[in-house]
Amino acid sequence: MNMSLVTMCYLGASVCFIQALKGLSNPRSALVGNAFGLAGMAIAVATTVSLIVALREAPGTGLGLVALGVVSGGAIGSLLAKKVEMTKMPELVAAMHSLIGLAAVFIAISAVIEPAAFGITATGVHTIPAGNRIELFIGTLVGAITFSGSVIAFGKLSGKYKFRLFQGAPVSFAGQHAVNLVLAVAMLGCGIAFFLTQAWAPFIAMAAIAFLLGVLIIIPIGGADMPVVVSMLNSYSGWAAAGIGFSLSNPMLIIAGSLVGSSGAILSYIMCRAMNRSFFSVILGGFGAQGASAASAEGGAARPVKSGSADDAAFLMSNAESVVIVPGYGLAVARAQHALKELAEKLHKKGVHVRYAIHPVAGRMPGHMNVLLAEAEVPYDQVVEMEDINGEFGQADVALILGANDVVNPAAKNDPKSPIAGMPILDAYKAKTVIVNKRSMAAGYAGLDNELFYLDKTMMVFGDAKKVVEDMVKAVD
Ligand code: TAP
Repeated sequence: MNMSLVTMCYLGASVCFIQALKGLSNPRSALVGNAFGLAGMAIAVATTVSLIVALREAPGTGLGLVALGVVSGGAIGSLLAKKVEMTKMPELVAAMHSLIGLAAVFIAISAVIEPAAFGITATGVHTIPAGNRIELFIGTLVGAITFSGSVIAFGKLSGKYKFRLFQGAPVSFAGQHAVNLVLAVAMLGCGIAFFLTQAWAPFIAMAAIAFLLGVLIIIPIGGADMPVVVSMLNSYSGWAAAGIGFSLSNPMLIIAGSLVGSSGAILSYIMCRAMNRSFFSVILGGFGAQGASAASAEGGAARPVKSGSADDAAFLMSNAESVVIVPGYGLAVARAQHALKELAEKLHKKGVHVRYAIHPVAGRMPGHMNVLLAEAEVPYDQVVEMEDINGEFGQADVALILGANDVVNPAAKNDPKSPIAGMPILDAYKAKTVIVNKRSMAAGYAGLDNELFYLDKTMMVFGDAKKVVEDMVKAVD
């Protein structure tokens, strides 16, 4: 196969990937972005397979294995993607990243065993050039940390497993950071020994320490910070792929890996900023730990709140001039978005001005609420981001909060000791009347009580969001 044709195809695929990232940054263009991503991946895979065929001394050998990988991997991926619920997406992403990390480690091991098979050396030559040794070292350590870290993140996010390391609560021990530092230094030492000798022992030791470090880095991080961690691991998996791309002299892997690496890093930064958290404080763990112990969910249950029915809420909203709806994680769990759209339409027909307020980290992944509302085909012009809607809560007659908690908790503004102090919130507490729907007085994800629920102007409507919103629709009728 002509190498300039391969380069052109890889360039085309790279342009598709860049267009995909651009498209995915906005719900309106996300579908087109997704199509670009699919096209880019199809071009990249087809080009690579053609290259394998062309470079084989006996064309066709090994193609069966490639086909088996593509078909079985594609089938498992499509099945999982079809089955997964939106609220479980972060754990699926974590599981996928673990595979990318493991693939990077396997490729590096194979390249050390048989460098000529990867075009790193000439046939029969086993001495790997110094530059390639460094690349293999970096690819292996980043891949191994990504693998074991993602497995822990998956366990923490799924919350299904009894194993202590898979619990949402941070797991820490005395001298944890010192142990991590010693391990990191030992890992670098092994890397240098591998670089100097190309011996197996330091290579295996380096990979084993990296696997252990991946576990130790992630276990002290609390459940509430896990989405940031998943995005960070996403970034790592990209850099691991790029590192291996250098070893294999594969420009496609280098470009795609760098795109994943840099976009994941930018996303982690955006999420940290949205929660007013520094990247290092996330990595060093502990968020939610104090909060969970200071949470007064039970104490909260003992404090009086005003509660009403879905009919009462519908009455208030029907007589309002403007209603701002705040969707949160509970709305996604209840899958109440279609009923909600119907409610908004009915209120709109009664002359009520209805908008949806979006907090950047509401739910369990970036853009979660945008995706949820888009699924119900809520018009985009009714969906307003936090910076734009916050100034308007003061004029709103009703703020209707559905399954959201931390993202409307005024403690972020009023209580400097709160674990979420400084996190930007939706100013729902400024609305003339606040209606909150949730199932109980239990705390939100950060494990904190919420003063908003106890305000005089707040009415709690307890129940599953879908049932409550459907009842509101009937009552508005
Ligand atoms: P949460 O604070 O988790 O609150 C969700 C609320 O929904 C809970 O209080 C729960 O109360 C209620 N709920 C659950 N199931 C329900 C159902 N079926 N019907 C009605 N209500 C239901 O959610 P949020 O306000 O969306 O905040 C997001 C959280 O994720 C924050 O803690 C944030 O820091 C964290 N976080 C998010 C991200 C991203 S990227 N999204 C990143 C990092 C951290 P009941 O149990 O009483 O019903």
